[in-house]
Amino acid sequence: MIPVTPSDVIKRELHGRVLVVRIDNPPVNALSARVRNELQLAFEAAEADATVDAVLLIGAGRAFAGGADIREFGKLPKPPALPDVCNQIEACGKPVVAAIHGVALGGGLELALAAHYRIAVSGAKFGLPEVTLGLLPGSGGTQRAPRLVGAKAALDLMLSGRHIGAKDAHALGLIDEIASTDDVLADGLAYTQRLLAAHAPARRTRDARALADRTSSRAAIEAARADAAKKTRHLFSPMKIVDAVQAALEMSFDDGLRHERQLFLQCLDSPQRAGLVHAFFAEREVQKAPETRKAKPRAITNVGVIGGGTMGAGIAVALLDAGLPVTMIERDDASLLRGGALVEKVYDRLVEKGRMSLEEKADVLARLSGSTSYDALDKADLVIEAVFEDMAVKKAVFAELDRVCKRGAVLATNTSYLDIDAIAASISRPADVVGLHFFSPANVMKLLEVVVPSKASADVIATAFDLAKKLRKVPVRAGVCDGFIGNRVLAIYRAAADHMMEDGASPYQIDRAVRDFGFPMGPFQVSDLAGGDIGWATRKRRAATRDPKMRYVQIADRICERGWFGQKTGRGFYLYAEGGRTGQPDPEVEAIIMDERQRAGITPRTFSDDEIMRRYMAAMINEGANVVHEGIALRPLDVDVTFVHGYGFPRHRGGPMKYADTVGLANVLADIREFAKDDPLFWKPSPLIVDLVERGATLASLNQSA
Ligand code: 3HC
Ligand code: NAI
Repeated sequence: MIPVTPSDVIKRELHGRVLVVRIDNPPVNALSARVRNELQLAFEAAEADATVDAVLLIGAGRAFAGGADIREFGKLPKPPALPDVCNQIEACGKPVVAAIHGVALGGGLELALAAHYRIAVSGAKFGLPEVTLGLLPGSGGTQRAPRLVGAKAALDLMLSGRHIGAKDAHALGLIDEIASTDDVLADGLAYTQRLLAAHAPARRTRDARALADRTSSRAAIEAARADAAKKTRHLFSPMKIVDAVQAALEMSFDDGLRHERQLFLQCLDSPQRAGLVHAFFAEREVQKAPETRKAKPRAITNVGVIGGGTMGAGIAVALLDAGLPVTMIERDDASLLRGGALVEKVYDRLVEKGRMSLEEKADVLARLSGSTSYDALDKADLVIEAVFEDMAVKKAVFAELDRVCKRGAVLATNTSYLDIDAIAASISRPADVVGLHFFSPANVMKLLEVVVPSKASADVIATAFDLAKKLRKVPVRAGVCDGFIGNRVLAIYRAAADHMMEDGASPYQIDRAVRDFGFPMGPFQVSDLAGGDIGWATRKRRAATRDPKMRYVQIADRICERGWFGQKTGRGFYLYAEGGRTGQPDPEVEAIIMDERQRAGITPRTFSDDEIMRRYMAAMINEGANVVHEGIALRPLDVDVTFVHGYGFPRHRGGPMKYADTVGLANVLADIREFAKDDPLFWKPSPLIVDLVERGATLASLNQSA
């Protein structure tokens, strides 16, 4: 083995007559400008060197390659472009083999497709996830993948962005061999030697014939087009992917590549790409809360959950799914039985759908135990409380926890609004208390607000972040205030929606406008789903402290007074057919709204969808900025992640703070000032927005690691 050139990111070693070209750009071998440049040099050298018979392309460290360097998007492109590097590799006169371990994603897989042969270790993962970043595979992937595995399979990979394993990749024809060991270099070299011994030619993917059946290829393309129009109507890149595959079918390879490039550049320029890339980095950035750098997490092997209602049961499922043993505490046997049944129901559905066997279900449930006595928590390392949203009840529970839990146990509350500092202050160990605010359904929703009370110790917070990782949740650090980040901002934009409803927009128009913007549901549908009684109880609790000068819309109260709490009672803002989940507009609700307008002395006016969204978003952005300004959220990106993962904010817009920068913070401020002319108490510009606009700065400028 002779090292050929010293280089940081591309290592070249001659093994006999095989040149091993190793990408070494940690952590995931992203194909940065330097990597591309040196890859080019390596292949030029291989071509020119008479002592080289073949090239073996591999990745160092944990992956083959995680794709193009996402950090370069949006900056001035630096040559050489990845498609050119791929073309050069494919054109190489000597056989080129890619040996894959870890991941080959996006440009990483496209690089492998440009090689002449592919072998992978059995644990390798493959995917073309560009669609999740608002892009399409832009280094020949849309042209090579369909030629290699057919239009249907290639479209499925590109439109879903999913990762597949080596076995599936082999079955599709994406790779030629699965290695017999995990030694990617040894198996790659052995495979290359076999190819050389068999005088295998430089086989080029551009010549592959999987599109030969034009009728079925065309059918697959049309089916994908119809599907994309239906399922991803808000997204820009899925249709471009379909267009690119159509080009693969109808054009020469070189023309197809040129077409792919044009489509790729359109995607690259789109605000959706910017939004999705922002979301990608933001959800990684939120994991790095300051406490996670300062302190080590405590060990968590035993967990307790107090309360087996909607949230307690869902949290128990999330913990069980992460492999942890769970002890559930309820106030009496009947409630305990009901809590256990709620947990079991989740697994029953998985069994029904064939996603879990009965034995697996039994194994999981064997880790769940229950008790009506707090003494069962004496071994717990972490307890999560999810009892009624009532300070007295919560304090009583924490007093019990203080009594029975061992020293060092983390004591968490799932409260939505209550003052966690007050809960912490009520026991003898406030440093162990933290808020773990899950979202419903707790075993499904990705967001976990980690609410940090003033006395919490750093290792308790680090433990919360560590737990989030185990639960595969996206944690966002939040400070203590009424509603933390998410529910606090929600209260404001929901109020803006209520104001518009009273001023003349129907709840159905508002919901539709919000859906057209990209949310899966509008605010009134959300209320019907969650249960109108929850918000009603909160409003009643706050009635005494509400500023009487502040506008208060009573429509929701009138609806709740009739016992119309939404889906669970068959009507709310919408009417639901027996057991139905899709509501119909309700003329009686419209009549209630008219009466309320009259009572409030309001002459209704019309709203355009555009005005609805400007008001809705301005309210969300303004309160989001307040939350950052007050240090409740560390940075704007924490607000973005909260809304994308907890409130259905369209990911392709990056989050409300990213959206504000996209439309221009000065425009948002101008809107707020315009709206303030009618209601200055509600529309108070956030000092943070005023300051940023005065300085000509963006919210993104505050996104450096906190
Ligand atoms: N470019 C730049 N940085 C990347 C990157 C990429 N393609 N992929 C990952 N990273 C960075 C992450 O930001 C993170 O940085 P940090 O430590 O500073 O926060 C670090 O690498 C590790 O990433 P993860 O924390 O996500 O590590 P995991 O082991 O959990 O996951 C992964 C690794 C599966 C590779 C995951 O990072 C991933 O899915 N990456 C994106 C893959 C992708 O979408 N590739 C396509 C890019 S677009 C493209 O190739 C266009 C082409 O067609 C022209
Ligand atoms: P729920 O009413 O469905 O469940 C509460 C459960 O706690 C009941 O089963 C009750 O029997 C039990 N309980 C009451 N007092 C108890 C005690 N002293 N000891 C043991 N068990 C006791 O309520 P839900 O919706 O699950 O809410 C629980 C908490 O989670 C609340 O603080 C709520 O604000 C919060 N939350 C609720 C969300 C939701 O969407 N429902 C979302 C996020 C947080």
